[in-house]
Amino acid sequence: MELEGKVALVTGASRGIGAAIAAGYAEAGAHVALAARATGRLEAVAEQIRAKGGACSIHLLDVTEHTAVVRTIDTIVAEHGRLDILCNNAGVSTAPGNAVDVPPERFAGVFAVNVIGLYACCHAALPHMLDKGYGRIVNIGSGSAFMCKPGSSAYSSSKAAVNAITVALAGEVGAADVLVNAMSPGYIRSDMNPAGTDEPEESVPTALWLAALPADGPTGRFFRFMGELPILPDTAMDFTSGPA
Ligand SMILES: NC(=O)c1ccc[n+]([C@@H]2O[C@H](COP(=O)([O-])OP(=O)(O)OC[C@H]3O[C@@H](n4cnc5c(N)ncnc54)[C@H](OP(=O)(O)O)[C@@H]3O)[C@@H](O)[C@H]2O)c1
Repeated sequence: MELEGKVALVTGASRGIGAAIAAGYAEAGAHVALAARATGRLEAVAEQIRAKGGACSIHLLDVTEHTAVVRTIDTIVAEHGRLDILCNNAGVSTAPGNAVDVPPERFAGVFAVNVIGLYACCHAALPHMLDKGYGRIVNIGSGSAFMCKPGSSAYSSSKAAVNAITVALAGEVGAADVLVNAMSPGYIRSDMNPAGTDEPEESVPTALWLAALPADGPTGRFFRFMGELPILPDTAMDFTSGPA
């Protein structure tokens, strides 16, 4: 099994894509720490995982509470001795709205979860990964980062920020066998996207592949159905050398 003996944290594991990825990681042999805010839903996901022989634990967590993020990750490491995989899946979207209608507070609410919450989880997990010399971070991004449709400025820019964080962190930690990648899960039917055409399980193979990458695997990249999409322009430009 690809993740035998590994310890993984999946945020937003109470439903939708996060629940499917958590189940996929457990089926691949990992102990999965399930984190989200809704206790009842987390328990239902845990029950399904255990019924199939998987191992998991439940962690009530709002990723916008940064001390709670640190506490949760420290607890996982104290209980299991390590945190090998962090899947940053927790995310929110606003109903589409143009800038004239969406006040900054609603915009900030999307960033609080999708960007700063994700960053907080990386910030808390990385010292443990660097200490062990091993880590795989799987950031659930979105094609919205590239499409930037009118009315999607909060969500699209939050997912563009996820890509930027992915590239920057990958460059910071690559020497220590800590690989950081982002992925689009697809157009998935969920509470966030009831019009989605694919089931949450469609996102699992890519999330599993990124969690199980070998040391010489890709890092700082963006994938959709295991195919790479350019996260940065093809031409490397040095913006430090003067006006382009
Ligand atoms: N569905 C799609 O087509 C699609 C496409 C591209 C990207 N994505 C991304 O995929 C991820 C999952 O989306 P989904 O479609 O599965 O959405 P979803 O069904 O709405 O699930 C969102 C998950 O995030 C959790 N969450 C939200 N706010 C949180 C917070 N403050 N702290 C901790 N957990 C929080 C929710 O749990 P609680 O409410 O229990 O806390 C829930 O488990 C998101 O990052 C989303 O942007 C989705």
